[in-house]
Parts: sequence; C-alpha cells; structure tokens
Amino acid sequence: MGRVAYVNGRFVPHAEAYVHIEDRGYQFADAIYEVWAVFDGKLADAEGHFVRLERSLSELSMPMPMSRAALTLVLKEALRRNRVREALIYLQVSRGVAPRDHAFPKTPVRQAVVITVSPVDRAASEARAAKGVGVVTTPENRWGRCDIKTVGLLPNALAKQKAREAGAAEAWFVDELGFVTEGASSNAWIVDREGRLRTRDTNANILRGITRKTLLQVIANEGLTVDERPFTPADALEAKEAFITGAGTLVLPVVSVDGKPVNGGKPGPVATRLRSLYIERAKATAI
Ligand code: PDD
Repeated sequence: MGRVAYVNGRFVPHAEAYVHIEDRGYQFADAIYEVWAVFDGKLADAEGHFVRLERSLSELSMPMPMSRAALTLVLKEALRRNRVREALIYLQVSRGVAPRDHAFPKTPVRQAVVITVSPVDRAASEARAAKGVGVVTTPENRWGRCDIKTVGLLPNALAKQKAREAGAAEAWFVDELGFVTEGASSNAWIVDREGRLRTRDTNANILRGITRKTLLQVIANEGLTVDERPFTPADALEAKEAFITGAGTLVLPVVSVDGKPVNGGKPGPVATRLRSLYIERAKATAI
C-alpha cells in the first residue's frame, strides 16, 4: 500500500485525499498546523507540539478537534498505515467549510482535519548537516502574529523560493532595526565571538519553536550560556558559528549568509554537538 492521508475521520490513499473548495483554510488561511519529527515511529517533542497546537487553536477561537489522546492515536495510526519509521508528520486543522464570508460561520461547522506523512531519509539529512547550508536574508514582511502557527505562509514561501534561487536552504527575515527574527521555517541562532549562544527571544514576533525550546534545555545541561538577544546578519558573519532549528531541520549548521562564509564555510563544533545531543534526547523522549 502507498501513501495514506487522514481526512476528516477517514484514512484515504494520498492521491485521493481532498478537502472542499470552500474550506476556510483554502480561502482565508483560517487554519493552523503542526509538524512533528518522527524517530523510529515515535513523535519527537510530542508534548511541546501539542501545547502549541492548543494555543494556536485557542488564539483563533477554535477548539481542539478531538482530545489530545485521540489525536495521538490518529497520528500514530497514520504513521503505521504509511509504514514509515523516520518521517515528518503534518497536521492541519481549519475552521471548516462554509459559504465564503470573512467572519466566522454563524453556527459553527465541523473543523476540517488533515494529516499527511512524509518519509525522511536520515542518512541524507546527516550528510546535509555534515556539509552545512547557506541562508539568504530578506526583509521581514509578515503579519504581527507569527507566534500562531497558521497556514498563512505566503511570505515564508516567497522567502524560501528566494533562498532556493540563490542556492541556499533557508531565508532569514530581518526586521526594520536590522535584526534577524527567524527563518522561513526555522529559528535562527549564532555562537557569538564570546562563545555565547544567541537566538531571538520569544517576545519578538516569531514562532516559539519547539526544537528551540528543547535545545535550550540541552544547552543548559551542557552548561553553555544563552543570550536571548537579537543579532544582525553582520553579527552572524563575524560569529564563530551559526545554525537553524526546526522539526524539519533539527539542528542544522549554517555555513554562509548571503553568499559570505561563516566559520570559513564549515559547520562548527558547537552546532554539530548540539545536533547530536538534540537527536539523542528527542529519540529518548519520543512517544
Ligand atoms: N516550521 N519558525 C517558523 C516560521 C517555522 O515555520 C518553524 C517550523 C520554526 C521551528 O519550529 P519547530 O522547532 O517547532 O519546528 C520556526 C515547520 C517545520 C514547517 O513549517 O514545516
């Protein structure tokens, strides 16, 4: 059996998985999502992603479509039916299907719930991490609620395309004060000249990355210092190291910014070590 998707209570062949044309996620980006890394068939950082899912929904005045326990079962069943052990699992919850009208439907409609599974080639990811990736910078042009994980990702998609056209893997948004906010689908970090880890604080208009959160605990256990203080692209170029974090990238060394090398164009020891510590911890705590 090939890829299987979950759509509104049913598992269907991926190629035949459809939502309605008046789904509010499709028309208004009135939907939220979550992405879990999956190691050996288990959800990494499960709790953190569930907490953020509940928060994103509540910020948009939407309930959970089912209990956390039921959702866990459905996610696990999706993995089982796809017969993959190493994967990313994507969950999307929209407000539902209703005649097009900007305001919410007067009588609540059933939320649309979609789950897809994408296999991950761990050997290829490790090879990519061993080489490191480039990032490009792009002006911050997103709305003021980037803390909500909505599917309204057009600026992120355009930024990522800009990165791809430049041969880079990620785009870093830069705010009007010249500071990096975050990546198009990851959080941004440097190891500064003093050896301190720097990443944007979560009071800024960024997504509160779950990988970022777990990594902060890993860093604390290592006795390393973190300074949640903004940095500029110039700081990144002068830094000892740079890297990005996210469910898709885990901890991924950055070796160039706008085509200029960081750390001589090689992954640094801190990012490399944090990647393996993060993966170790994610595997050990996955459910
Ligand atoms: N993106 N910032 C943005 C804008 C993101 O989209 C993501 C994740 C992150 C990292 O968050 P986390 O560590 O919780 O994955 C930061 C997911 C993976 C995506 O859009 O596919």
